[in-house]
Amino acid sequence: MKKANKLYEGKAKVIYETEDKDKLIMFFKDSATAFDGVKKAQIEGKGSLNAKITSIIFKLLEDKGIKTHFIGVLSERELLVWRAERFPVEVVVRNVAAGSVCKRLGFKEGFTFKKPLTELFYKSDELHDPLICIEHVEAMELAPVELIPRMKEIALEVNSLLSKVFDRAGIILVDFKLEFGKLPDGSLAVVDEITPDSMRLWDRKSGEKLDKDRFRFDLGDLLEGYKKVFERLEGNT
Ligand code: TMP
Ligand code: ASP
Repeated sequence: MKKANKLYEGKAKVIYETEDKDKLIMFFKDSATAFDGVKKAQIEGKGSLNAKITSIIFKLLEDKGIKTHFIGVLSERELLVWRAERFPVEVVVRNVAAGSVCKRLGFKEGFTFKKPLTELFYKSDELHDPLICIEHVEAMELAPVELIPRMKEIALEVNSLLSKVFDRAGIILVDFKLEFGKLPDGSLAVVDEITPDSMRLWDRKSGEKLDKDRFRFDLGDLLEGYKKVFERLEGNT
C-alpha cells in the first residue's frame, strides 16, 4: 500500500491517504511533546517503538472482539488503518490517581480507586484538553451523545483486558486515554494509538515510571522506559 496525500500532521503522527479511499497510513514520528506542545524533543527510535507497542495492543483488542481501526503493520513505523470519522472526545480510564486528577481534585498520587474511574476530555490544544461532561458533548455536538455510554463501556473492557496483560508483565496500568471514531462500515471503533504516550505505566516492584511522564518531568531516558514496556509486552502476550 503506497502513501498518497498527507491528510493530517499531528504532534506525534502523520496520517496519509492511500489508493483505497477507506484506508489510511498512520506514520509514527520520532517527536515527543508535552504540555500541549510547549515542551518538544526529537527522540530517535520513539516512532518505531510506539508503532510496535500500539500494534501489539490493537491486535490484543481485536482478538477479544473489541473493534479498532487497525488493519496491519506496513513497516517499522507505519500502520495501515481504516479511515474513521474521529470524535474530538478523549475517554480516560484511571485505576490509580496520577496527573490531572491529582491537581484537579486533590487525590494523592498512587491512591487506588475502588473502581476504575472514567472521565471525558475535549480534544483541543487551544483549550488545553479540558475535562467535559456528557452534556457538553451534546451541546457542542462533539459526537452522537448516545454513543458516549458505549464508549465508556468499551474503555472499561479495554481496561480490564490491558490491566491483566500489564500485570503479567509486572507493570501497573495506572491510566490511559482512548479515542473513538466511526469506520466506513458505520461501526464504532477505538482509533488513534495506545502507547506509553497515552498511558501511565509503573513498574510493579520498583514503582519506576515507564511512560511519557519520564519526558514530561525529566525522570529519565524516555526510550529506556518504552523499550522495557515493549520487551515485557512481547514476552507476555
Ligand atoms: P491526565 O492525567 O493528564 O488527565 O492524563 C490521563 C491519561 O490520559 C495519561 O495517561 C495521559 C493520557 N492523555 C493523553 O494521552 N492525551 C490527552 O490529551 C489527555 C488529556 C490524557
Ligand atoms: N499530549 C499533549 C501534548 O503532547 C499533552 C501531554 O502529553 O502532556 O502536548
